[in-house]
Amino acid sequence: MNQNYHQNTAQSRRINERLRRRRRRRAGIVIFLLAAILIALAAVYVGLLIRGRDDRRDPPVDGDTTPAVIETTAAPETTAAPETTAAPETTAPPETAPAPVTFTTLNLSRAEMLRGPLVLVNSSFPYTFPANEKHLVNLYGNRSRGYQLGSAQEKLAQNALDALNRAADAFMAATGETGLLVSNNGTYRSFDAQEKLYMKRVDAVGEAEAAKYVALPGVSEHHTGLAFDLAVYVDGKTYQLNALETYSGFPTYLVEQGFVLRYPANKVQVTGIGYEDWHFRYVGIPHAKYMTENNLCLEEYLNTLRGYQFDGTHLLVTAGGVDYEIWYAPVAAEGDITTVMVPNGLPYSVSGNNMDGFIVTVMLGRAQ
Ligand code: DAL
Ligand code: ZN
Repeated sequence: MNQNYHQNTAQSRRINERLRRRRRRRAGIVIFLLAAILIALAAVYVGLLIRGRDDRRDPPVDGDTTPAVIETTAAPETTAAPETTAAPETTAPPETAPAPVTFTTLNLSRAEMLRGPLVLVNSSFPYTFPANEKHLVNLYGNRSRGYQLGSAQEKLAQNALDALNRAADAFMAATGETGLLVSNNGTYRSFDAQEKLYMKRVDAVGEAEAAKYVALPGVSEHHTGLAFDLAVYVDGKTYQLNALETYSGFPTYLVEQGFVLRYPANKVQVTGIGYEDWHFRYVGIPHAKYMTENNLCLEEYLNTLRGYQFDGTHLLVTAGGVDYEIWYAPVAAEGDITTVMVPNGLPYSVSGNNMDGFIVTVMLGRAQ
């Protein structure tokens, strides 16, 4: 009995000891877990506090004059940027900054001054015919359905024909009218064709009257393939463009595609030719827009461009949603070659003016 008692007592002590150790381990685990939870909660809380501060800074504030606004206020181009804002030379420019335009030289011969959509052809500046007629395209088979042809022999330079077709397509789409007529003998004319026309007119009305509307052979724009005469043919009758209200709106479409009314009523003293509501001349989109908006005939416009040279101010024109930059380069005082500056990486065209220089037209891109 005593032995049993002692055995039981010793056993019970061991069990109790094991139970105490187990309780201590459990308590330790619980304390560890509690501590871990507290630490995690504290970390989350601190994190939220930090993010909270950042979040408060993000939204724009009314009247906020943040440095970004100041930075976008560009200094005038002629003013050097403050040294502190200049990027170090080794740092690449930000992706949004436009790459600076660089220029290269183009060597042009005097013969090239006689070609291009801005050549002036009038009684003072005769046209020099090229060696062949390869640059001309038949309207027959290549025309817009928005106009008819006075003959199957009409020809224009490709750029003029494309522009006329676009204008007629747009006019037809807007009005449903298809009565426009490119006159018989109203496009390209050879020297001989112009001579025949002039003499016929002299026979009919005398020299002084003939010269008001028909250029002498050699000084007609019709030699260039850039000009055409337009009328309207409806219900078997031919009308002048301005005689019918619907069609009198067509010149606006022509201007949008790069044509000008070449002999306006208010420029007879400058052009030397009477008002012709039928004669249109291709010069190119920005030039047509600027000339029309500023009431300048080709003689006046080319003179105005002399004030815009590469080293000075350039003429800026936005037309058809595109920005253009234009300048004049005078022909070299001596020798055959004129060196003209043209941009790298931007589309440009160069036209002679058939007088004393070249016009550079740069397409900067879509207007902002
Ligand atoms: N009608 C214009 C002036 C020409 O004959 O060229
Ligand atoms: Zn004409």
